Amino acid sequence: MDHEKIVQDGYDKIGKRYQDLGKNRAISELDELTKLLPSHAKILDAGCGTGIPDTKYLHDSGYNVVGVDFSDEMLRVAKENLPHVTFIKQNITELDFPDNSFDGLISFSVIIHIPREKHKPLFQQFHRLLKPDGILLVSMAWSEWEEIGEFCGEKMFWSHYKPETSLQTIKDSGFSIIKDWLVTTPDYYNEDSKSEKHYYILARNS
Ligand SMILES: C[S@@+](CC[C@H](N)C(=O)[O-])C[C@H]1O[C@@H](n2cnc3c(N)ncnc32)[C@H](O)[C@@H]1O
Repeated sequence: MDHEKIVQDGYDKIGKRYQDLGKNRAISELDELTKLLPSHAKILDAGCGTGIPDTKYLHDSGYNVVGVDFSDEMLRVAKENLPHVTFIKQNITELDFPDNSFDGLISFSVIIHIPREKHKPLFQQFHRLLKPDGILLVSMAWSEWEEIGEFCGEKMFWSHYKPETSLQTIKDSGFSIIKDWLVTTPDYYNEDSKSEKHYYILARNS
């Protein structure tokens, strides 16, 4: 079974509903990244979705931001939302930017959808794409979990390790950890759940 196809098809069907449900989502975690970057830094949003709110915040703050996603529908909405931003359709496990392309890289609520045996090569690739001393900010899951289920009424796939393993994987991929922290937010996307936990990791390319 092609797990990544499940995710791609799922987000093609969910589309703008994802943006609408998460419209009150906070973006304050992004400041942990931006305060470490020079103005006009080049930032990759890996798995940017519709670009709201994160790509937009970075663009509006003056950064040179590029969004990548593999869902046609999420990208269609992103381009409609932010016509002046560069959006590219690619699987983030196979990015073909040259080495040292970016000063910063964010990936929020995306790596949770990538088969966990691919997490290490993914972070090694992020290491390659970031300049020396570039900054990585990712949100991961708070528990070890792999499942095919339902999200926003569509078939979906999740796969992740426990936080200790994610942290070690990032260290082993060439990063030094600046900080890691847990954020509990309302679960905007699931009526049956009151809250969800996001595990953030901020790291420097070394
Ligand atoms: C939960 S949404 C998060 C979107 C955005 N980062 C945000 O926080 O609003 C997950 C997004 O990741 C994209 N995605 C998941 N796996 C991907 C992959 N392997 N390559 C590219 N995009 C991927 C999906 O298409 C979807 O737009």
